[in-house]
Amino acid sequence: MLKIENLKFSYERRPLSIDIESLLIEEGECVGIVGPNGAGKSTFLQLILGIHNTYEGEITLNQVKLEKKTKNYFREHIGLVFQNPDEQLFMPTVYEDVAFGLKMKGLPDVEVQNAVNEMLDLLGIGKLSQRASLKLSGGEKKRVAMASIFVMKPDIMVFDEPTLALDPKSRRRVINIVNELQNTKIITSHDLDMIYETCSKVIVLYEGKVVAQGETKKILSDADLMEKVDLECPLILKNLL
Ligand SMILES: Nc1ncnc2c1ncn2[C@@H]1O[C@H](COP(=O)(O)OP(=O)(O)OP(=O)(O)O)[C@@H](O)[C@H]1O
Ligand SMILES: [Mg+2]
Repeated sequence: MLKIENLKFSYERRPLSIDIESLLIEEGECVGIVGPNGAGKSTFLQLILGIHNTYEGEITLNQVKLEKKTKNYFREHIGLVFQNPDEQLFMPTVYEDVAFGLKMKGLPDVEVQNAVNEMLDLLGIGKLSQRASLKLSGGEKKRVAMASIFVMKPDIMVFDEPTLALDPKSRRRVINIVNELQNTKIITSHDLDMIYETCSKVIVLYEGKVVAQGETKKILSDADLMEKVDLECPLILKNLL
């Protein structure tokens, strides 16, 4: 269980990017975080991974409070797929990027090979295995970044805009994979149709604050709320209205 209390954070010499009184994400939940550009979604995800140190308030995972000495605990349990894959990929080849975490864990080579190849196939990028990660297309990079986190099987999977830059088939593949995962999942996206298909609960962030939260359909079909926070009801719900 992830618990947030009185969390405040601003980038240097910037107004508050995050100002959350309290938030609870229960084990096994799939939670969507939505909000317009600049609402603080990516910043929030980075905070729960201990990427920023200058915040006020408390972030607690399974009764363990996030601090310098517990940062590794958070990183072992939470896997974040970054919005921008260039921030995540750094090895010479796709294979090595996806294998990196498992190798650091000290797994035997054969196990690493099997796990990596299986994951590349699952994401439909087996053919890219020996290519240079940074010389791929945006959507290909995104899938490699996702594979590098999936392969680690973290308890909590966090996706920052997972369908951004993906073609329809790859997007569908990601939706299916996310729906098959039994872990706790946190997803931010502007693809509200994807959020509708994957999340049981939605949190609406606006100017760093939680302005609404609740059951996915209830939140995403609230046209007044969506309008107020510069979003639109997902197409699938518009068609049902
Ligand atoms: N590295 C940074 N330095 C200074 N300010 C930043 C930095 N990154 C983000 N911000 C600011 O913090 C606020 C929240 O940004 P954040 O990236 O978390 O928004 P977001 O909700 O993820 O937006 P998007 O939908 O565009 O991905 C914005 O006002 C942004 O300008
Ligand atoms: Mg973002």
